Amino acid sequence: MKKLSARRRHPLAALVVLLLALACTGGLYAVFAPADKAQADETAQSLTIEEGKKLYTVGCASCHGTGGQGTSDGPSLVGVGAAAVDFQVSTGRMPAATSQAAQIPRKKNIYSQAEIDQLAAYIASLGAGPAVPTEEQYGPEGADAAKGGELFRNNCAQCHNFTGKGGALTHGKYAPDLEGVTPKHIYEAMLTGPQNMPSFPDSTLSEQNKKDVIAYLNAVNGEETESYGGLALGGIGPVAEGLFAWIFGLGALIAVAVWVAARTAKAKKS
Ligand code: HEC
Ligand code: HEC
Repeated sequence: MKKLSARRRHPLAALVVLLLALACTGGLYAVFAPADKAQADETAQSLTIEEGKKLYTVGCASCHGTGGQGTSDGPSLVGVGAAAVDFQVSTGRMPAATSQAAQIPRKKNIYSQAEIDQLAAYIASLGAGPAVPTEEQYGPEGADAAKGGELFRNNCAQCHNFTGKGGALTHGKYAPDLEGVTPKHIYEAMLTGPQNMPSFPDSTLSEQNKKDVIAYLNAVNGEETESYGGLALGGIGPVAEGLFAWIFGLGALIAVAVWVAARTAKAKKS
């Protein structure tokens, strides 16, 4: 007993207690951190939209207007949704070179997937529209290619030809060859109906139907392996914020520790 109280009065006792307290705080932080995740995600999302707005102002606003309301050179983008942006920009159609062409063609895409996600987040924030489809929606799992063939002949072949080889339409317009188009872009084209193509919302062509059509096109085009890829977003927001809390939280505790230690030392002297 005596030994214990002697040790408690040791000048380093305050520091030991403090270190224990710090360890506990760390543990508690780890336990409660997930509760902050939703808010961190929200902050990350608004940063993504901010970045998208900057890209939009530089690359798109001249035709689509400063707030996406449209001009005589480009339609309003309010409510077109993230899927339309992902399709238009990653197939290189947007930014268009000119608004005067009979049909804006596919070309080399000039944005990274992360930038496209930012543009899409910004446009989606202007008004609700179809979201970018997930791999689960356009992937081969559970798809029926034979059913897809039937759906394709009934809904798409009049423009794209029976096996999707494409064909000319009126006034210099054309339905493109669908060979080599990724499943994600096929899904997005059906969902958003680019230029002279009608859109096929889920009420006309259900999610399962779209999956089947994609499987059919993959089968006739002999695609075996598909990259569903695309870069994941950095997602450094929450980590950076956690670190911030750690450094400032710990800093404050250490300041208290130093103060306590100084007081103990003073009390001893007097
Ligand atoms: C030179 C003018 C021009 C520029 C620059 C431009 N666009 Fe467009 N955009 C158009 C025109 C014209 C259309 C309509 C094409 C059509 O449907 O006939 C269009 C259509 C779109 C659509 C499809 C809208 C819908 O109803 O589905 C999206 C999405 C889009 N643009 C996004 C963008 C983004 C994002 C950028 C910047 C990276 C951009 N555009 C830059 C002229 C432009
Ligand atoms: C009325 C004619 C028409 C019908 C019907 C039609 N499309 Fe299209 N489709 C087009 C045109 C025109 C384009 C080119 C649009 C563009 O370049 O923005 C196109 C573009 C596409 C693209 C983009 C290709 C690329 O190179 O990026 C895909 C994928 C596509 N269509 C799939 C389909 C599927 C699947 C169906 C049936 C569910 C269908 N289309 C029905 C006319 C049509």
